[in-house]
Amino acid sequence: MAEAKSGAATVEVEALVNALPDPVFVVGPDMLVRAVNAATAKLLPALRQNDLLVRGLRAPDVLDAVDRVFKSGQTQAAIWIDRFPIERHFEIHLAPAELADERACVVALRDVTESRRIERMRSDFVANASHELRTPLASVLGFIETLQGPARNDEAAREKFLGIMAEQARRMARLVGDLLSLSRIEQNLHIRPSAAEDLRAIVSQIVDGLRALAKESGVEVRFAAGEPVVVLGDRDELLRLAENLIENAIKYGAPAPVDISVEAKDGQGMLTVRDHGPGIAAEHLPRLTERFYRVDTTASRAKGGTGLGLALVKHVVARHRGRMSIESEPGKGATFSVALPLADQGAG
Ligand SMILES: Nc1ncnc2c1ncn2[C@@H]1O[C@H](COP(=O)(O)OP(=O)(O)OP(=O)(O)O)[C@@H](O)[C@H]1O
Ligand SMILES: [Mg+2]
Repeated sequence: MAEAKSGAATVEVEALVNALPDPVFVVGPDMLVRAVNAATAKLLPALRQNDLLVRGLRAPDVLDAVDRVFKSGQTQAAIWIDRFPIERHFEIHLAPAELADERACVVALRDVTESRRIERMRSDFVANASHELRTPLASVLGFIETLQGPARNDEAAREKFLGIMAEQARRMARLVGDLLSLSRIEQNLHIRPSAAEDLRAIVSQIVDGLRALAKESGVEVRFAAGEPVVVLGDRDELLRLAENLIENAIKYGAPAPVDISVEAKDGQGMLTVRDHGPGIAAEHLPRLTERFYRVDTTASRAKGGTGLGLALVKHVVARHRGRMSIESEPGKGATFSVALPLADQGAG
């Protein structure tokens, strides 16, 4: 009788836990697992019904918490960090439950890895942005004090300091401008640009605009004329994209020449920017598009960089449903390629 009743209860419990999307399982007072749902089976394949909990989940904190639930009859919480194959963090909620003829403990796991990562990114971002603004701001404030005090009547010093202050203020303005563009593109990420834009004309405009920088850096920019390559795009964003890639090639590859090509291939408009400078070591490649990431912070900052350029490029490419690739070998330069859907391929 009792057996039949408990069997029916187990079936009900199984049906119940299986309706839940997160990993949930039930343990009896004998520490044997009563029921596991599909999400648990996927996460913890060694955790089996009618088997000891400790054999499926080697986490002393969680076992202690189960024990506390039975002793106190109260809800408990625990944290479990799974380190293999990749590190994942779980918040575990344990609650007492009355099954048909026995007490049980319901264990629910919530994967908080992603939310922790985002939280971490957000605080890193605020720290980075503040840090980038603080340096030029401190310099401007310092010069203002000097001009109000010791250098009050020094005509030559005033000219010099005002020049530096203007440069620092421009740096801050640029940083804020880049941050605003980034957040605007991010907000519109789900809205795909729909205008037909000639990628070649856009690149050509940027090449013209960067002539002075190229000359000053002793860089020959090679970009051949050709047929229009019309992509589905947002003109302003594509201008920013081209500017960042070409400016980087000039800044970091100088004085070696830069080769730029725009072509239509396999339904895609391809922009390739190739420099012949020092290149980028493999370990940096995956991180280049992170906000504020710079291979050599001091060198980049000296060139007026904030490490937001490639983050912007990546966002623009994502919004355009395109692809981006970076290839480089130290000593042999770097090639940045972007592929964007051609306008005549339709929106599909
Ligand atoms: N063509 C390149 N050759 C070598 N290193 C590069 C090249 N392009 C980018 N990098 C490296 O990648 C880093 C990130 O580039 P990114 O364009 O995001 O930032 P930045 O140029 O430093 O600043 P910003 O673009 O905001 O002015 C650079 O600081 C530089 O170290
Ligand atoms: Mg840049």
